Amino acid sequence: MSKSILEGRPALARQIQDIAETAGYLWQKGWAERNGGNITVNITDYADDAMKAFPAISAPVPIGLTLPNLKGCWFFCKGTNRRMRDLARYPMENGSVIRILDDCSSYEIVADNPVKPTSELPSHLAVHNDFIDRGLDYKASLHTHPIALVAMSHTEKFLRKDVLSNLLWSMIPETKAFCPKGLGVARYELPGSLDLASATLRELEDYDVVMWEKHGVFAVGPDIMEAFDQVDVLDKSAMIYLSAKCMGYEPDGMTKEQMKEMSVAFNLPK
Ligand code: 13P
Ligand code: ZN
Repeated sequence: MSKSILEGRPALARQIQDIAETAGYLWQKGWAERNGGNITVNITDYADDAMKAFPAISAPVPIGLTLPNLKGCWFFCKGTNRRMRDLARYPMENGSVIRILDDCSSYEIVADNPVKPTSELPSHLAVHNDFIDRGLDYKASLHTHPIALVAMSHTEKFLRKDVLSNLLWSMIPETKAFCPKGLGVARYELPGSLDLASATLRELEDYDVVMWEKHGVFAVGPDIMEAFDQVDVLDKSAMIYLSAKCMGYEPDGMTKEQMKEMSVAFNLPK
C-alpha cells in the first residue's frame, strides 16, 4: 500500500482526526443521510517542502471561479457522493487533499486517493478565498442538513432577516452567547451552483452560519469543531422550539429584558 500524506505529519493528522470526529457527530445527529453534507479545511499551514513536491494524482480540474487569494493553497475536502459516516471511519479514503493551481481557477488532487471533491466546492472555496481577503483566521467550512433547522426554513415567516436568529436566541440563553452573530438566510438555489456560492458569500459578511433555504446550513469557523458547535447550538434551540410546538403551545421565549441582560453579561455585539 502506498504511503499516506499523513505519515510523519502528526499536526496534519490531528486536523484530519478532528474532521473525522466531526463527520461522526453529523451522522449520529441524523444530519447526514447518505452523502449529505460536506467539509473542507484549509491545511496550507501544514504543507511542508516535501509535501509541496508531491506529484499530482489527477489532471487539473476547473473550479468555475477565479479565487486569487487561494493560489498555492491546500485543502482537505470530503469527496462528492461519499458518506459522512464513512468519512468518520476512513477519512483519507472518502476525502482528498487538493492544491489550488497558479491560475487560481483550477485544482489538482495530490493525496491520498483520486477522490473527486464535494459538489459544493464552489461555495467552500469562495468562502475560504473571502476569509483571506478579510484577514480572518478561519480555516474550516461545513455544510450539513440539520432536521429541525431545515424544517424551520420551509415557511416564509422565518426567512425574513433575523427573525430566526431572534427566535432561536430566545429559546435558551447560551445560544446567543455561543452563536452571537445569529443565522443568515440564503434563498433557495440549486445545490452545488455558483449562485448558491455567491448567496452564501453575501450572508457570511454578517454571519458565521447561513441557512440554505429548504436544504441545510453552511457554517464557518477557525476550526472544524467550532464550525460544528455553532450549528449544534442553533439546532438545539430549534429542537426546543419544535418540542414546545409538539406539546401544543407556542413557546414564550426569553423576554427582551432577559436577552438584553445576556448580551451585557456576555459582552455580545447586538
Ligand atoms: P456531496 O456528496 O457532493 O458533498 O454533496 C452533498 C450535499 O449535501 C450537497 O448539497
Ligand atoms: Zn446539501
